[in-house]
Amino acid sequence: MKIAIINGPNINLLGKRETGIYGNRSFEDYFRELQEKYPAVNLYYFQSNIEGDLVNELQRVGYDYDGIILNPAAYTHTSVAIGDAVAAITTPVVEVHISNVHAREDFRKFSHVSAKSAGSIFGLGLKGYELALQFLMERNNHQSL
Ligand code: DQA
Repeated sequence: MKIAIINGPNINLLGKRETGIYGNRSFEDYFRELQEKYPAVNLYYFQSNIEGDLVNELQRVGYDYDGIILNPAAYTHTSVAIGDAVAAITTPVVEVHISNVHAREDFRKFSHVSAKSAGSIFGLGLKGYELALQFLMERNNHQSL
């Protein structure tokens, strides 16, 4: 089973970026733990600060992988192109936000990807990625029954 985690801008700074909101841990460190905990899953990680690179990556994995966990970060709120890419691909997408975007500034309450995703998780910290992974694993098992 192949699952891609795709993170948007500034997620490469996790652990040193607004730690009161995003925590002290780097994503690479968390990703290593996820890989160890779920050895049966072929987990792939991609991060970019560039909108078009995120669209390219969604297109590349989006007809082949079994699931995508997507945190488009700030582009969530601005990118029609990322929303269109999520709508275009056939792989199910779970949208994840580390912080509770609904408890923050108003501009963070709108998402271009929520309506096109299988579902969304926000405010549960890095745990949201693992919960999304568990959902996609279960979904995949049911499909292959
Ligand atoms: C974020 C929330 C976004 O509003 C913000 O721009 C981010 C991170 C989150 O994971 O909580 O960069 O997507």
